[in-house]
Amino acid sequence: MLALEAEPGSAVEISALDIVLWGVLPYVMVVVLVGGLIWRYKYDQFGWTTRSSQLYESRLLRIASPLFHFGLLAVIAGHFFGLVIPMAWTQAVGMSQEFYHFNALLVGGIAGVGTLGGIILLIYRRRTTGPVFMATTKNDKTMYVVLTGAIVFGLWTTLASVFEGEHGHNYRETVAPWFRSLFIFQPDIAAMAAAPFSFHLHTLVGMALFVIWPFTRLVHAFTAPFHYLFRPYIVYRSRDRDRDGSRAGAAATRSSGTAARRGWSAVGTRDRDTRNR
Ligand code: HEM
Repeated sequence: MLALEAEPGSAVEISALDIVLWGVLPYVMVVVLVGGLIWRYKYDQFGWTTRSSQLYESRLLRIASPLFHFGLLAVIAGHFFGLVIPMAWTQAVGMSQEFYHFNALLVGGIAGVGTLGGIILLIYRRRTTGPVFMATTKNDKTMYVVLTGAIVFGLWTTLASVFEGEHGHNYRETVAPWFRSLFIFQPDIAAMAAAPFSFHLHTLVGMALFVIWPFTRLVHAFTAPFHYLFRPYIVYRSRDRDRDGSRAGAAATRSSGTAARRGWSAVGTRDRDTRNR
């Protein structure tokens, strides 16, 4: 055992395991996450997809998917405030620890319960809708277990704080400084080692999720579908003639002499274009 000074006056003992878990593992995780994403992008772009099952079932999906995704967005925002913004900053703007804690538990609790409700519904739908279950691979099942684990253990840390009240652990003095210290490559292992087991478990399962991320359907989260906002409509079927008998589509554009907007001109086939002349 090593004895390191976590804070002036308080010595926290850290073991070799602490060094591996909180000093080495986070960097291994980042290397696998980034390297895995690059590898997947290079070698499996066609597989870079959610493998959507909306075609098989949409009634439950319409409720479960937004519940899960919007809940998770709120959870991510909560992680940002809790882990990235130092306690000294919120205190400097006059926010008491009690006020911060109350809001974190209220908003974090609602977001966490929403996310958990969403994932439970998604898994229920996957298990009970025949074609969706048939399309579920071993890889998907592993991913669901780790994802649900991260959510359940995260919610456990939050609910424990609610029940422990003012005796609850203040993770902004342990987990959060450790998290920030990783970015300057000086991991504050002693700070993280001082956090309770529930936080250790949640963080480890969270890191496991990031490790498997590039190799699962979760890669879709790294796709920003901005082109959807600006791309032209996709016409699956169109008539060749308007109601008044004039040629539609590419032919009309050609005869009017007006240049079509880039990306908006009708796409013809050689057959149709020859017929239209
Ligand atoms: C690996 C890095 C992670 C760290 C250091 C971390 C840390 C924390 C901490 C300190 C809390 C307690 C917040 C509070 O009580 O106010 C928490 C809660 C939570 N975490 Fe994480 N977390 C990590 C990853 C994840 C991941 C990957 C997920 C899910 C995909 C997740 C889901 C949750 C949920 C659902 C809660 C409870 C609701 C909430 O307070 O927002 N966490 N996490």
